[in-house]
Amino acid sequence: MANDSAELRFPGKDPISLPILEGTLGPQVIDVSDLARHDLFTFDPGFQSTAACSSKITFIDGDKGILLHRGYPIATLAERSDYLEVCYLLLNGELPNKVQKDDFVSNIRHHTMLHEQLSSFFNGFPRNSHPMAILCGVVGALSAFYHDSLEIKNPAHRELAALRLIAKMPTIAAMAYKYSLGQPFVYPKNSLNYAENFLHMMFSLPAEPDTPNPVIAAAMDKIFLLHADHEQNASTSTVRLAGSSGANPFACISAGIAALWGPAHGGANEAVINMLTEIGDVSRISQYIARAKDKNDSFRLMGFGHRVYKNFDPRAKVMRQTCHEVMEALQIHDNPLFKLALKLEEIALQDPYFIEKKLYPNVDFYSGIILKAIGIPTNMFTVIFAMARTVGWITHWNEMLGSPELKIGRPRQLYTGTLERAFVPLEQRN
Ligand code: SDX
Repeated sequence: MANDSAELRFPGKDPISLPILEGTLGPQVIDVSDLARHDLFTFDPGFQSTAACSSKITFIDGDKGILLHRGYPIATLAERSDYLEVCYLLLNGELPNKVQKDDFVSNIRHHTMLHEQLSSFFNGFPRNSHPMAILCGVVGALSAFYHDSLEIKNPAHRELAALRLIAKMPTIAAMAYKYSLGQPFVYPKNSLNYAENFLHMMFSLPAEPDTPNPVIAAAMDKIFLLHADHEQNASTSTVRLAGSSGANPFACISAGIAALWGPAHGGANEAVINMLTEIGDVSRISQYIARAKDKNDSFRLMGFGHRVYKNFDPRAKVMRQTCHEVMEALQIHDNPLFKLALKLEEIALQDPYFIEKKLYPNVDFYSGIILKAIGIPTNMFTVIFAMARTVGWITHWNEMLGSPELKIGRPRQLYTGTLERAFVPLEQRN
């Protein structure tokens, strides 16, 4: 992939030639991996200028608002595909034919149940635990149960682990919600599709009949699809780093869940609803925008801004449309949060600060409004993000483990601590 080179001139060293690598899309990269041989390191906190790996899974163009999964635009997939089909596409690189899709869906369906002993794990958590804490713990504990899919160098084991994780996340997530209510766990029902099954496990009660609402299930499936993968974001990079040490897939996904939890990342959807609820009324929007612009105020407009998208987030556009459709279908025309969000977006996008800093609504800005309209509690929003992103995490994990470039991730640092000094015995310290 190298067809040209850059030359680094460093005081006291001969000029260093660095290969320039060209991908199939996106910016060229300068391969600096050989710099260590010259006892030189690059410095890039937050990795704003660093490509950590090569990948064929997802492509993002932040300026043009492009998001491709294995070459297919996200808006096309959202309109014409469904979540499990996108899972197959991400994992295998191609859209499935009818037989492949039916097999994949059947395989997922037959891994939705959890080992019965895992149910007792939940009793160790306080009833008011944040469901992300439960998800982190229970997913990590899966490695204690599934010894037959932990040989990470075996592609068949990696594939089985991927199926198990995609299939079981909704079951674990719904169990965390039921546990918080003190209601009985609901087993998966294989006659339902993926989104219907999740909603069934979340909301059905033994004492009541349960009929899936196709509009809500379709919106849920679209939300899963829009969150499936997103290149080398913080949680995916966490999964890759954990996986590079040879850790088992369940431990790696548990690490990804932990990283996603932060409000700057996957926790933003919950933070958006909390922010909109705090703003409360259109008349208070300007004071919150002023706070978001105030360097002395740590407040940020949640759901706005993105490390890569310096134009619109294509997922936010689809999510906004889905918002309209769900409000229409559920006859919630005057949803105050949705109206407030639309007004906030309109005002923010006219504000010079947001225009200059290229801060647009991201995927999290509208998703929470749909989830709330569906009846999902706010503290479950990031859990749903984690469920949907599991396929992205495990696909990147699998790509990395299948790569001949695989090395343990071990960044260096710029040391700014004290110089070496003599030890002072306790009695001599003042
Ligand atoms: C996700 O990486 C991914 O792909 C993530 C994700 C995925 O699918 O995996 O897309 C999902 O995490 C979406 C982002 C959800 N987070 C939020 O909505 C939280 C609010 N957004 C910000 O925290 C922020 O925009 C980030 C974290 C998303 C991006 O941060 P960056 O790239 O590090 O940018 P920055 O913090 O350096 O901000 C640049 C400037 C700063 O001002 P200056 O210091 O240059 O004067 O823009 C300002 C920031 O203060 N800014 C904001 C802002 N976001 C950035 N000001 C007000 N409100 C905001 N939301």
